[in-house]
Amino acid sequence: MVNFKDLGLVNTREMFKRAVAGGYAIPAFNFNTMEQMQAIVQAAVETKSPVIMQVSKGARNYANGTILRNLAKGAVEYAKELGCENPEIVLHLDHGDSFELCKDCIDNGFSSVMIDGSSLPYEDNIALTKKVVEYAHQFDVTVEAELGVLAGVEDEVVAEESHYTKPEEVIDFATRTGCDSLAISIGTSHGAYKFKPEQCTRDPKTGKLVPPPLAFDVLHEIENKLPGFPIVLHGSSSVPQDEVDTINKYGGNLPDAVGIPEEQLREASKSAVCKINIDSDSRLAMTAAIRKYLAEHPDHFDPRQYLKPARENMKKMYIHKIVNVLGSDGKLG
Ligand code: G3H
Ligand code: 13P
Ligand code: ZN
Repeated sequence: MVNFKDLGLVNTREMFKRAVAGGYAIPAFNFNTMEQMQAIVQAAVETKSPVIMQVSKGARNYANGTILRNLAKGAVEYAKELGCENPEIVLHLDHGDSFELCKDCIDNGFSSVMIDGSSLPYEDNIALTKKVVEYAHQFDVTVEAELGVLAGVEDEVVAEESHYTKPEEVIDFATRTGCDSLAISIGTSHGAYKFKPEQCTRDPKTGKLVPPPLAFDVLHEIENKLPGFPIVLHGSSSVPQDEVDTINKYGGNLPDAVGIPEEQLREASKSAVCKINIDSDSRLAMTAAIRKYLAEHPDHFDPRQYLKPARENMKKMYIHKIVNVLGSDGKLG
């Protein structure tokens, strides 16, 4: 048994309380590699921001859970080495899909877990979430639950209003499960293709897709039902078009990739939304930098040569999100 406190990590409780009260959101960046971890820590330290480093089941399969946990432990020590005396770093399981997986993470140093029962019938989601909460709280680990279904990764269909979280269910769900935060569905989805072209309009000048707005009415109804309760937005990459253009210029093929406009995430951050999940934008920043570097240096083959600009580009993106979109800069407790 490794408790997160022994690794210098923190859970989400205090940081969410401050974020909801202060009208900003904590960044939750997925990581699979050392370079992503380094870029996240550098960005968080330079901006004096709390940060959530999250690991999916796929990340555990790719990189190995023990290695990722030790990278998170290293992240705390690295942040201190960079001059941050008291870093606030959460190690979070993203989209846990079983009690056993959540338990394994809780027993091995994670300070926060998500149990994603959103594809289950309502009562089954409650039962599973409650079971994880009861186990996690014994060790002061915080739990994120999900109600409503995001399109994409979770159900292979594009966002539809019928999948939005039902505001009339949230009080019952939060009360009966005891979860610490709730991921909701208001029109975001995972990946770099969040909307079909037919759901969007096109900017006549650039030819780029303009997506439909998020369902802020649903968000506000939920906030009214659960005042001050921490709300989470998944699928919140913005799919920066300059990165998409770079990828396409240097041999990639991502036509009509489209994300959530940053102004909408800025608006959501001012509400009870206190955790915003970003993964695809990091993948795009990394891939764009590597494609460009290799195209411009066809004779280079040392991975450090192309991973360095990739790490720099991710760091720039993380800092931009923290400072210009989520507003968590300068918010260390
Ligand atoms: O929710 C999805 C995250 O972007 C994680 O993706 O399962 O490919 O690691 P992944
Ligand atoms: P994006 O694919 O929009 O980055 O979403 C990431 C996410 O929600 C991880 O849980
Ligand atoms: Zn997600």
